[in-house]
Order: sequence, then structure tokens, then C-alpha cells
Amino acid sequence: MNLTLYVWRQKNAQDKGRMETYQAKDISPDMSFLEMLDVVNENLEREGKDPIAFDHDCREGICGTCSLNVNGVAHGPEKGTTVCQLHMRHFKDGDKIYIEPWRARAFPVVKDLIVDRSAFDRIMQAGGFVSVGTGGAPDANAIPIPKDAAETAFDAAACIGCGACVAACKNASAMLFVAAKVSHLANLPQGRVEAKRRVVNMVEQMDREGFGNCTNYYECEAACPKEISVKFIAQMNRGYFRSLRYKEQ
Ligand code: FES
Repeated sequence: MNLTLYVWRQKNAQDKGRMETYQAKDISPDMSFLEMLDVVNENLEREGKDPIAFDHDCREGICGTCSLNVNGVAHGPEKGTTVCQLHMRHFKDGDKIYIEPWRARAFPVVKDLIVDRSAFDRIMQAGGFVSVGTGGAPDANAIPIPKDAAETAFDAAACIGCGACVAACKNASAMLFVAAKVSHLANLPQGRVEAKRRVVNMVEQMDREGFGNCTNYYECEAACPKEISVKFIAQMNRGYFRSLRYKEQ
């Protein structure tokens, strides 16, 4: 198949950036979206031009590195699918495809389609961990955890931190990401010990990073490649308001 690509090119954070047009020729429908970009880049390199910079690592939908808006949709048109797992068979020969980076003030563009998502790292550093002694793996497994609590925690832990929730939200809110990280620990006994401190610190760091607020559009849930539910935002908000008293003490 042959496609026309309109790709955001931006030299660095200071550059204004612009859309540029490329032809993707002889693309196999079995290629992934990133493999299609690899072909375009090979041709650009052959012509002595600067290849399109884009993020990727596992290409298996687990690392959360890939981050493209495809035709205005975070991770493209397939529900519950990262852009590295999106295949070209979902497009038609002759299609025009617009490819842009995540758009959010807290995710400044580094180059072309790569954005700086270290704001997420700083939120995790503010509390997305367990620091109490939980023993080795056999001890942890010896703690009985109700099945529904374990499953809820697992649903939240599916978050790969890609930032699609931020990119999809008109407020560039990171609430779904932070809620998933807070909730996956808060639902387990090992994480409950520090739950109050964690939720306050992570929410406050989220605000410092310049993410917007949640106004219940649910675009985050629709864009999330792991289909994480907005119910975790409600759980986080309840935990946050209960924990404010912890902060005042
Ligand atoms: S490259 Fe790892 S999730 Fe897409």
C-alpha cells in the first residue's frame, strides 16, 4: 500500500515546528505502524536527510515508550492498542495519515515526535513505591489478599505510563495515570501502610508539573491502551480528601 504522511518535524524544544509531507511506498499491511516509519526513515537516510525521531523500546505494548497522535487520536484508531501494536492493515491504500507528538505543556517536545515525559518520573518519585519492609517473595505471597482486591490492583497496575491519557484530555490532565499508580498500591495491604502520604505527595507533584484538572470527559479512559477505568480517579479523589487530614497533623 502507498500512503501520504503528514509528520510533525521540530528540531528541538525552541524550534516552532511544522508539518512535513512524506510518501510511504510499498508498505505491507502486516507491518506495524512503527515498522512503516522505519521504512520511511530508511529512505530518508538513503537520501541523506534527517530521519523522523520517534520513541519506542519494546514494540510489544508493555514499555509505554511509543507515543504518537495518529490522525488526532492518541495511539491511533484501534481501541486498547499501543501505536507499536497498531498494524497497517487498519489503514487503506492511498490514505492520508497525520502523525504528531503528544500535545501537553507538561510534555515538552524534545525532537519531532519525541516528548519529555520525565514529569511522570517525578510523580513516581514523590510516592509511587512501597518503602516499608514486606519481606522476600515467599513472605509477600504468604499475606492473604482477597481476590477482588488483587484483581482491582492488577487492573490499575496495567498502566504502562505512556501518557496517552494526558494527550487525549482537553485539560492535559494526568489524573488517570496518577490514579492508576496510587490505586494499584492502595488496594494491597503492602501499599496501604503509606497510602495517605503517597496520594497527597503524588497529587501535589502532579499539580506542580503543570498538568490540568479532570473535568470528567473520560477521553483518558477511551485513549488508554490498557483500558484503565476512570473509577480509579474516583478512588484516588476519595483517598486524597481523606488523607488531607494526615497532612494537617
Ligand atoms: S514501544 Fe513499548 S509499548 Fe510501544
